[in-house]
Amino acid sequence: MSNNSSRRQWLRNTTAVLAGVSLAPAIFATEKERYRAAGIILLNGNENAYGPSTAARKAMMEAAGNSNRYPDDQVAVLKKQVAEFWNVGIENILFGAGSSEFLGSVCLLVSSPKGKIITAEPSYRVWNGQAGSFGFEFKRIPVAVDKTLDLSAMISAIDSDTKMMYVCNPNNPIGTYVEDHLLRNFVNECSKKCMVLVDEAYTEFADLPSLKDLAVKNPNIVVAKTFSKIYGLAGARIGYVIAHPDTIKKVSAFQPWPDANVSAVTIAAASAALKDQVFVKDCKEKIAQARELCYKTFKELSLEYIQSHTNFILFNIGKIGSDFSKKMQAKNIFVQYRDHFGGKWCRVSMGTIDEMKTFCATLKEIA
Ligand SMILES: Cc1ncc(COP(=O)(O)O)c(C=O)c1O
Repeated sequence: MSNNSSRRQWLRNTTAVLAGVSLAPAIFATEKERYRAAGIILLNGNENAYGPSTAARKAMMEAAGNSNRYPDDQVAVLKKQVAEFWNVGIENILFGAGSSEFLGSVCLLVSSPKGKIITAEPSYRVWNGQAGSFGFEFKRIPVAVDKTLDLSAMISAIDSDTKMMYVCNPNNPIGTYVEDHLLRNFVNECSKKCMVLVDEAYTEFADLPSLKDLAVKNPNIVVAKTFSKIYGLAGARIGYVIAHPDTIKKVSAFQPWPDANVSAVTIAAASAALKDQVFVKDCKEKIAQARELCYKTFKELSLEYIQSHTNFILFNIGKIGSDFSKKMQAKNIFVQYRDHFGGKWCRVSMGTIDEMKTFCATLKEIA
């Protein structure tokens, strides 16, 4: 993930601060404490600043003791739980180390013979390098004037060389979404010609329904879901796909055995997180409040921004300059610089309300 390594490097260099921090026994707690003690505000990874929930933490601690055994039974229980949550069959679900695993393996599934993947520009790109290593090229279709996915241009771009359509809704890094009925129609039509990968990493923030009902019936549609965002478990690394049983079988063949890449601790976290919809609601409300705080500041500073339905906002920093993220970093705040639409933008992820107050105050200072 871009500039995560720089934030780690920064942390390593902050030895003076770290010297004063006692090493907590749990690695996750230690990491969090270290960032907090160093006064670092991480707004560059679209993570959930409130996670993991208390219930998920407790479940992880309890599950740690089972880590000497393969978690086959626990996987089966979680699969049943997730299947019931989405009202699909257990044969429609496959777990992996984050949804990223499947962005790669679904590409691999359609990689012979080689061809092109159609995606929006801008859109989520972290997995593009991996797809490139499988021999794919990308056809990037600019988003529409209103900054939503240009579905008609994307579907028109399909030709005999197209192996996959990637669609991220709401779209990272813009935060806009296309309406459910439009997306459904688009996905159905595209699936007649190629594999369609629907990335639902941010649907919960926008209260969008899942396209899982299309995926379970159609071998050419895969829905990717993650516990990394609203459920606050990015570091636990667990996600899954919902798809037709034949597609699940094919994708699982890229794992050592089905669901092999999730641990007992991670499974316990996901199970507790899924049950805790109060935490989900609470996070959604706080993140919406954080967005409003940012919008107010952007308006005060006359900075253009794109109304977001996610836990991040893209705003224009043309007036401030491309060294904006470096200036922020110097103040211990990590954000992402982005070149989009022929201009300079910043993608800021929503942290806690206090963190966002600090972000807004620092933005005012710098701008
Ligand atoms: C659109 C999108 N899809 C997938 C991911 C990766 O999620 P995971 O942590 O489940 O691999 C991200 C992470 O930022 C994302 O923004």
